[in-house]
This record gives sequence, C-alpha cells and structure tokens, in this order.
Amino acid sequence: MGIEVVVEGLTKSFGKQNIWQDVSLTLPAGEVSVMLGPSGTGKTVFLKSIIGLLKPEHGRVLINGVDMVNSPERDIMETRKLFGLMFQDGALFGSMSLFDNIAFPLREHTRKKESEIRRIVMERIDIVGLLGAEGKLPGEISGGMRKRAGLARALVLDPQIILCDEPDSGLDPVRTAYLSQLLIDLNAQIDATMLIVTHNLDIAATVPDNMGMLFCRNLVTFGPREVLLTSDVPVVSQFLSGRREGPIGMSEEKDAATLAAEQLNGNGNGNGYGSAPRTVVPQLEPSPGMPVRQAALRRRERVLGMMGRLPEAARTAIMNSYTPAAGGARP
Ligand SMILES: Nc1ncnc2c1ncn2[C@@H]1O[C@H](COP(=O)(O)OP(=O)(O)OP(=O)(O)O)[C@@H](O)[C@H]1O
Ligand SMILES: [Mg+2]
Repeated sequence: MGIEVVVEGLTKSFGKQNIWQDVSLTLPAGEVSVMLGPSGTGKTVFLKSIIGLLKPEHGRVLINGVDMVNSPERDIMETRKLFGLMFQDGALFGSMSLFDNIAFPLREHTRKKESEIRRIVMERIDIVGLLGAEGKLPGEISGGMRKRAGLARALVLDPQIILCDEPDSGLDPVRTAYLSQLLIDLNAQIDATMLIVTHNLDIAATVPDNMGMLFCRNLVTFGPREVLLTSDVPVVSQFLSGRREGPIGMSEEKDAATLAAEQLNGNGNGNGYGSAPRTVVPQLEPSPGMPVRQAALRRRERVLGMMGRLPEAARTAIMNSYTPAAGGARP
C-alpha cells in the first residue's frame, strides 16, 4: 500500500518573494488528494518541494522517516525512487517513440533485461489505454494521448507515491472525464498515495478523498473532500463556483482566464456549485472489474473517526455519502 507523506511547517521563498508559509498537511497512505489554488500560488513549487527538488527554508517533509528537506542527499535520492511524476506538459522526448519514452526510467534507473523492460512497459501502456500506439512519436499523437503516455511513464518504477501536475491541462471535458476514471482505477489497482494539482472543478469534485487549497501564501485548508466542497470560506467557494466576485482577483490573470474557459465548457455549471447550499456529488468508483479501493475503506474509518472536529455541512455530506440510499450506495 502507499506511503503516508507528512508535511510540517513548510515555508518556501525565492529571494524576497515568499511563495507560501507554514504549510502542514498529511497525505494519508494510498488515498487520493487534490491541491487547488489560483495560478502562481506555488502548487508546482509544492510538488517539487515534496520530492526534494526544491529546498524550503523551514519545515519538514517526512516519508518513511526520511526528511526530503534536511536529510542527506543520498537518502533523498533513494526515497525519490518511490515517486512517480506526471508533469504539467507530459515532458516526453520528441525524438523517441512512446515505448522508448516510457521505458526510459527503467533503462536509466534499473539493470533490468530488455525482455523484462518490454513486459513492464507494455503492461503500463495497456493500463493507460495506449496499446497499438507504442511505436508512435509524441508529435504524432493527440495531447490526451501524450498525457496518458506521461502517466504510463510515471508508473514504470512501481511508484508508491504519484504526483500529477495538472494532468488535465489541454484536455477536452470528455477526455478529462476519462482521465478522472483512469486515476481512480489506477488507485484501485496499485493503492499508491496520489497528489493531483488541478484547476479542473470536475476532477476536484469527483476524484479525491481529500482536498486542499493554496491561496495568498497560505494553505487555506486541507482535509476530507466534503470539507472543501461545502466550505463557505469566501476564497474556497469563489474558486469552486468559478465566480469573478470574491477575494480572487484579476492579479491572478491566467486563473481568471482558465476559470472563465472552464465555465464556458460547462464545468462550472450543472453540478450544484454556485447555488447555496452546494451539493456534494458522489466520488467516482473504480470501473467494473477493478478491485475495491483499499484506500476508500481505510479512509472511511479515518474520516468517521474525525467527525466531531468537522463543520456541520461537511459532517452531513459525509454521513449522506456513507449511508446506502437510492443511487448513493458506497463501498
Ligand atoms: N525556480 C524558481 N525560481 C524563482 N522563482 C520561482 C521558481 N519556481 C517558481 N517560482 C515562482 O514561484 C511562484 C509559484 O510558481 P508555481 O509554478 O509553483 O505556481 P503554480 O501554482 O504551479 O501556478 P500554475 O497554476 O500556473 O501552474 C511564481 O511566482 C514563480 O514565478
Ligand atoms: Mg504549476
């Protein structure tokens, strides 16, 4: 099963520019978490800090007892092998076939025989639905296929922690829906701890067990998905409803554009956002034939154990999701 990631009091600046301060959260083992936040709030910097590629000035990131901020570089490198990374742009080598791109981490970081590499690569290509395209160059396939190739490459080293930076950017709403299902199916199959950075409100509403949001150099909140989805903290409800009115202003230029575009695509409509009280849509279930998500079972115990500390609206949403009802049965 996946590994817990504990972030304690993390603060990161570049020169005089403070990106965020005193960020603390725990990614529960094997669960899926989403980090939201307007453009430029430091989500990518946060992912890079978790794997130790960027060094925050204060705080710790604990994984299996290794501190990805302060431990010796050798330990950090070793722990980094537990990660699978899916970059914002897919980051494939343009002159290599999909097969070679996906095989790259295995050839680089292991001494496996070519026959074994072939077996692993084809298995991952199958998981992301790219069988038949393995001989193509990245330039010969669609953006959505490149995303999935990037995901396949993130999977070859059997990661226990998967970080996805805007896996949906550049995808149409239908492909985004397929990607959401793929992420859940993947989680059911490998039980890896997953952190997904996204602006996409549909992914946020349907994929994660937990959700957090970065804004104004702070972690606004992090916890069970229902807490954010029912939150009446202005910045959270504005973001989730894609409204212009609210604390998030035009200084976050790209983000206003992104949200406007998403609303045009219908993402901001029809799922209850923006109308008070907001409804919490059910989380995606693994596809038929997939194993039960072990993380969902663990999460249920964990969340029921913390009910007393959650706001009323979140408690109600959680109780509804865990109460078998017409169309609302949960594992
Ligand atoms: N290596 C770096 N050196 C200096 N500043 C940096 C560096 N990396 C990021 N920054 C700054 O940190 C801030 C946060 O950047 P980051 O890429 O993490 O934002 P983001 O939340 O991922 O945005 P987006 O949603 O657009 O991807 C930006 O102001 C950026 O210019
Ligand atoms: Mg980013």
